[in-house]
Amino acid sequence: MKKYALVLAAGKGTRMKTDIPKVAFPILRKPMIEYIVENIEKSVVDDIYLVLGYKREVVEDILKNRAKYVYQEEQLGTGHAAMQASAVLEKLDGNTFIMPGDVPLIWYKSINRMFTLHEESNNDLTVVTAHYDDPEGYGRIIRNEHGMIERIIEERDATDEQKEIKEVNTGIYIVNNKKFFSLLKKLGNKNAKGEYYITDMVELMNKKYKVGSYLIKNNSIAMGVNDLYGISKAEKYLREYINKEHMINGVSMINPETITIGHNVIIEPGVTINPNTTITGKTYIRTGAIIGPNTEVHNSQIFENVVIKHSLIYDSIVREETTVGPFAHLRDHADIGSHNRIGNFVEVKKSSTGHDTKASHLAYIGDATIGSGVNFGCGSITVNYDGINKHPTIIGDNVFIGCNTNMVAPLKIGNNVFIAAGSTVTKDIPENGFAIARSRQVTKEDYSKYLIKPKEKKTE
Ligand code: UD1
Ligand code: CA
Repeated sequence: MKKYALVLAAGKGTRMKTDIPKVAFPILRKPMIEYIVENIEKSVVDDIYLVLGYKREVVEDILKNRAKYVYQEEQLGTGHAAMQASAVLEKLDGNTFIMPGDVPLIWYKSINRMFTLHEESNNDLTVVTAHYDDPEGYGRIIRNEHGMIERIIEERDATDEQKEIKEVNTGIYIVNNKKFFSLLKKLGNKNAKGEYYITDMVELMNKKYKVGSYLIKNNSIAMGVNDLYGISKAEKYLREYINKEHMINGVSMINPETITIGHNVIIEPGVTINPNTTITGKTYIRTGAIIGPNTEVHNSQIFENVVIKHSLIYDSIVREETTVGPFAHLRDHADIGSHNRIGNFVEVKKSSTGHDTKASHLAYIGDATIGSGVNFGCGSITVNYDGINKHPTIIGDNVFIGCNTNMVAPLKIGNNVFIAAGSTVTKDIPENGFAIARSRQVTKEDYSKYLIKPKEKKTE
């Protein structure tokens, strides 16, 4: 039997109080819906359908052709959302895994287990439930005297007695396509909110078909995110889970509660991560690297034995044995060679360096191609912007750049060049050249008395 998935993701997420559609809201810098689709892709499911509505283009832009889309123009409830896919799914022989788009911690192995139970029990509808100590906000499971699932009651429609029930509806179901989607047309909207609740399908299905349930053991997997507090809770679960995996794999973490590692980050064993460090996006960190404290790394590659302290690294590469920081900023495809030193208050943007190059203090390197063995003196900068356009700087090997040098781009500096401190270089310097570009010093002897008031001597 073919297996489908239907993710209900058309809602705005009003309780989030943000403009981004809830399912696109990031958790550890990655949209919630991506976690869900990634896990469905890893599971036994063959085809994924998504119901979109509010700002659908934002979600489509994230997922592109990883799913098929159906639209719910007006958000009239979870049952109404599922109806939008009826026309398609009713015709497809098989079972469909239905879930809300705001349950980001779903795990592919659980999806597989749900399918196994559904098929082995010959269910036409399997409701996935969980036991929560604090069930507030979730629909409650009403069972009959034989323990069979009878119906689901939404919290706002529940009596005080029903609210005491700790078994909740996770919003996840597996259904037999033909039976479920043909009956879905009969769903009404007589409830506190006047919405079409998918949960009312339990009663309808019970009349004709076999309804069963699957109790989820790991509660966080089915956790629904409804507001920004929920986002922080999901983030906490995910952080703990991810950090644990890395530590077991040989990554040392000092004070791991303060360390945040994104879902797709690869870290080799033998890496040390210090407190208050966030590593996200498509990042790869090789063995021997020491990252942090107080560091952010996003979409970057960090090679063997690199040391990064108190720094920001975005969309960049740092090659082996290089040290970065404290307080350095690499961004926009900076590619730092091996055995470099990028030190205090140095910013590197869209530039590359060879091996053994140093910019130890207070430098700006932008749109530059820099060779090996170059020494950037303190306060030296590439002047890459003329107010309208950005221009490139090319610097050869073994170049010594004196302190406080301005290199006004476009500019080419050959190998083995020496630039005197304080120069403003506006013309290319050929190989082996020495350049000095500043006014000569004038010294007037015995002249300071006109400028400095003599200090009065203090009498005792
Ligand atoms: C729903 C369930 C509740 C369950 C909980 C689990 C119903 C009526 N209630 O409540 O029993 O305990 O999930 O998390 O189903 N959506 C649409 N179109 C709509 C309305 C919603 O696509 O018209 C989507 C939303 O984008 C969201 C999902 O359905 O991703 C769930 O909607 P939400 O409003 O969060 O439902 P809950 O109130 O949490
Ligand atoms: Ca929800």
